Amino acid sequence: MQNIIDDIAAQMALMSDKGKVASYIPQLACVKSDQFAMSIALPNGEIYNAGCAQTLFSIQSISKVFTLTLALGKLGESIWNRVGREPSGDPFNSIVQLEHEQGKPRNPFINAGAIAIADIIMQGHQPKETLAEILQFVRFVANDDSIAIDEKVARSEHETGDRNASLAHFMASFGHFQNPVSAVLGTYFHHCSIAMNTMQLATAGLYLANNGINPLTGYPVISAKRAKRINALMLMCGHYDGSGEFAFRVGLPGKSGVGGGILAIAPGKASIAVWSPGLDTIGNSKLGTLALEMLTQQTGWSVF
Ligand code: DON
Repeated sequence: MQNIIDDIAAQMALMSDKGKVASYIPQLACVKSDQFAMSIALPNGEIYNAGCAQTLFSIQSISKVFTLTLALGKLGESIWNRVGREPSGDPFNSIVQLEHEQGKPRNPFINAGAIAIADIIMQGHQPKETLAEILQFVRFVANDDSIAIDEKVARSEHETGDRNASLAHFMASFGHFQNPVSAVLGTYFHHCSIAMNTMQLATAGLYLANNGINPLTGYPVISAKRAKRINALMLMCGHYDGSGEFAFRVGLPGKSGVGGGILAIAPGKASIAVWSPGLDTIGNSKLGTLALEMLTQQTGWSVF
């Protein structure tokens, strides 16, 4: 396994087109695009790393996997009254479907869906308390208490968050929100700004590769049935209007973030985190996707 990822990292270093870092969140535009890291965590506790696997990056939309898990744990299947389970086929920050679908987002991974999930998790609490709960959960599944929110990124998101604010206000206009829009947005911007490295992220995803049980602690994070369903949603919706392409090329449930990270799950086999901040035109990591494509070709880990 170490040979395989060392070889992939070496090939990524030679690629001349590494994609473009996100610039609509100004703080993310400061990240150098020539960085690459990959970590593969196995349920038996082994972990394989290549590249800068200890460098922290903004996990952005990958945090939506953890907030969805929390929401399901707290409120169970009732969350599906507020968010759908269908791919959108539209960009992650699109507003168009909300108007025709009574303010109900297509799925929990597009921005509108994740903002609705933030509202669901809050249950009348302040953003600070909700964020403490989200962080505690992420630290628990990653088995690492050092994980924190990058306040600079959160501020940067807030300052340029007009599109997300419009999604939230539009949904609230249908009477769906239980908390003030500003508080929900504060929660959302901050959980997107959690900073992790690929070692922490691969470890954090292990419960999804292991029937809902964190193999490092033996603790059941979520039921096996729900872990399967989260993987199904990652496969169908985790890369927005690039989900079909990701399934075609990589063949694994995956969730991307505009920070350039991807968490991919090979059920029963491994949890894989990859990071390369340059994005393709849809907003998914260019080299991250290519590296995962090479990995599944060499390991045969595609779910298909
Ligand atoms: O709300 C946003 O636009 C960002 N915080 C998250 C978007 C994102 O990561 C989309 N991923 N590919």
